[in-house]
Amino acid sequence: MKFQEIKNNIYYCGLNDCDRRIFDELIPLEHGTSYNSYLVKGSEKTAIIDTMYPPKTKEYLKRLADNQIGKVDYIIANHGEQDHSGSIPALLEKYPNAIVLTNAKVAENIKNMLFVPEEKIRVIADGEEVSLGDKTLKFIFAPGVHWPDTMFTYIKEDNVLCTCDFLGAHYTFSDVFAAESKELEHSAKRYYAEIMMPFRTMSKKYTAMIKEMNVDIILPSHGPVYTNPSFILDLYTDWTADAPKNLVALPYVSMYESTKEMVDYLSAKLNEKGIETFKFDIVDDDLGDLAMALVDAATIVMGTSMVLAGPHPMAVNVAYLASVLRPKAKFASLIGSYGWGGKLFDLIAQLLAPLKLDLIEPLQVKGKPKEEDFKKLDEMAESIFEKHKSIELV
Ligand code: FEO
Repeated sequence: MKFQEIKNNIYYCGLNDCDRRIFDELIPLEHGTSYNSYLVKGSEKTAIIDTMYPPKTKEYLKRLADNQIGKVDYIIANHGEQDHSGSIPALLEKYPNAIVLTNAKVAENIKNMLFVPEEKIRVIADGEEVSLGDKTLKFIFAPGVHWPDTMFTYIKEDNVLCTCDFLGAHYTFSDVFAAESKELEHSAKRYYAEIMMPFRTMSKKYTAMIKEMNVDIILPSHGPVYTNPSFILDLYTDWTADAPKNLVALPYVSMYESTKEMVDYLSAKLNEKGIETFKFDIVDDDLGDLAMALVDAATIVMGTSMVLAGPHPMAVNVAYLASVLRPKAKFASLIGSYGWGGKLFDLIAQLLAPLKLDLIEPLQVKGKPKEEDFKKLDEMAESIFEKHKSIELV
């Protein structure tokens, strides 16, 4: 298929991966993903910015050959993760005169992960510029979104910025130019939640920096390009804001419906008080949806049944995931039911501890919740209401 031109001899030469159903073996993909690679043809030199996920290398090389791109002088590696760097060895074989331009951290990664020979790499500095003739590439280091090695490449004369994984979306397309749809917004938020939310402060910083740059087009490493950069930058401004929303996330696992009854009751009480809730069945629902709710939630209330003498292992898994995603939530509580005894909450509280959440009195019930337990859930709803009133919400 012919490359799509983005602007003045800058072409999209990446690939869709429509069949991929999970990324990082962790969170399901709703729309597959794309691995974006860009060809930049200057008057004197040609560069390829980022390459391909290893299982797609053959298809990628064929796509380059079909488009008769001629010589390649530079392979720009914005990031060492193999969904973008994976085809560098194959490209170096196909274009033996090419050299890899990258920063020292990526260089280290691609030497270790892909055995790229040191002599094929030229390490560049933050802010360094490389001329392609009538085009200049400027490298802007962006550690933290999402690896320490991440950098952006700015094509100066065209005012186009390649942002690597930052601002991307796991999304496939036939037209590389983004339609500003709700569906794309959903995918971009899900992607932010899973990949960038642990680095919210850095994401906020680079969002502001790119806004300031006033670029014409953003070229991310996954998903379509943004010809209206404010579409994605305004969304990131919202997601990375310090203030949460008036929302309670309620992930739960319930073996005999007792914990679920508590979750449903608490959720209804919170709704009566004007607080939005997101109930999440840990066993049946999609983890990506929970991650998205955690982008906004002010409070996390986790519900768990007891298995043997501790919390349900699926709840433990989600507590760990929540802690590593580092959401902006301020408050937490725990509810659940047990049969014969044990420690229901200790491990979950320990896992959530790094989030430094203000813990609201938990509620552990033997068997089915009874009248006095529902009263305690009323009190919990009231506490959450008061806590939310005490902070800035958006
Ligand atoms: Fe899309 Fe961090 O790789």
